[in-house]
Amino acid sequence: DAGDIEKGTYPHYMLKEIDEQPLVIRKIIQKYQDDNGQLVIQPDILNAVDEADRVYIVAAGTSYHAGLLGKQFIEKWAKTPVEVHVASEFSYNMPLLSENPLFIFISQSGETADSRAVLVQVKELGYKTLTITNVPGSTLSREADYTLLLHAGPEIAVASTKAYTAQIAVLSILAAVTAERKGAGLHFDLAQELGIVATAMEALCDQKEEFEYIAREYLSTTRNCFFIGRAVDYYVGLEGSLKLKEISYIQAEGFAGGELKHGTIALIENGTPVIALATQEHVNLSIRGNVKEVVARGANPCIISIKGLEEEDDRFVLPEVHETLTPLVAVVPLQLISYFAALHRGCDVDKPRNLAKSVTVE
Ligand code: G6P
Repeated sequence: DAGDIEKGTYPHYMLKEIDEQPLVIRKIIQKYQDDNGQLVIQPDILNAVDEADRVYIVAAGTSYHAGLLGKQFIEKWAKTPVEVHVASEFSYNMPLLSENPLFIFISQSGETADSRAVLVQVKELGYKTLTITNVPGSTLSREADYTLLLHAGPEIAVASTKAYTAQIAVLSILAAVTAERKGAGLHFDLAQELGIVATAMEALCDQKEEFEYIAREYLSTTRNCFFIGRAVDYYVGLEGSLKLKEISYIQAEGFAGGELKHGTIALIENGTPVIALATQEHVNLSIRGNVKEVVARGANPCIISIKGLEEEDDRFVLPEVHETLTPLVAVVPLQLISYFAALHRGCDVDKPRNLAKSVTVE
């Protein structure tokens, strides 16, 4: 697996784990490839996904955010409907289940009690279960029918970084291989595109001063910060806001660009930082329209776009990757900006107050 439990020369585990992400992505490609370089998944897991008429993803925190992206891959590529649920809500908000559901539990630790409670519940109902986890032999892995591993190496910092990108990568592979099996393979080489992602992540990790500067400029003294995006950028914004909340204690929220006008825009004051993600061509005009709306109310915009869609006022332009994989690179600046914001504000980056790495109580 990628990485070990030594901090080495790094001041914090979080920074080390952010830096390990290119390595983790390469490790995942390697672990999920056969001798001919084809992406593969164990046949029994493929059967389970193939036979399911609906997939229910259950997770908490950052893993839930990865699940939101997993839904995109599985629905778009494998054409199976997917619902994503927060584990703690599931048992009393249980949706009307389909006839032949498959439950996928996403959990870095494999120990989250809220997720386990759902696992126990659905197993009693006789449903198939798959756990995607970083920890072989963890409770959720042992108790589910099947396991897919993240191969991210131990994640020590409370704020999850490399496990999130690993979860997204593994979910993309699961969706792609299932699609292939259904005779609807992708029109691009996923392994190759993930390799390009790893290289792009490396380039981002080499530009830390830039993100330190952005953190200083936007977040040194602010009380709050908003993240906006549309389509998958919205989900990445949710994760960016969670990172910032967790370690810098800045009140941060992620919103769908189109929802702003339905309430949140009332919170924009002179100088309020708004981090906008613009990596998706099909919503590019709309998200840029949202930026104009917040700027007109005094916001301090930080637009993070991607090569090919960049405009003059963008604060940072991500290296180009396949359009479906942009979350894997877009999150890296957000992780680093959160890290430096926490550092500037004197927070304990690796062990933020009130939080635990794995929450084993419901
Ligand atoms: C805790 C951690 C979060 C994590 C969540 C789910 O709240 O602080 O970083 O995302 O648990 O953990 P899991 O191990 O199930 O992915």
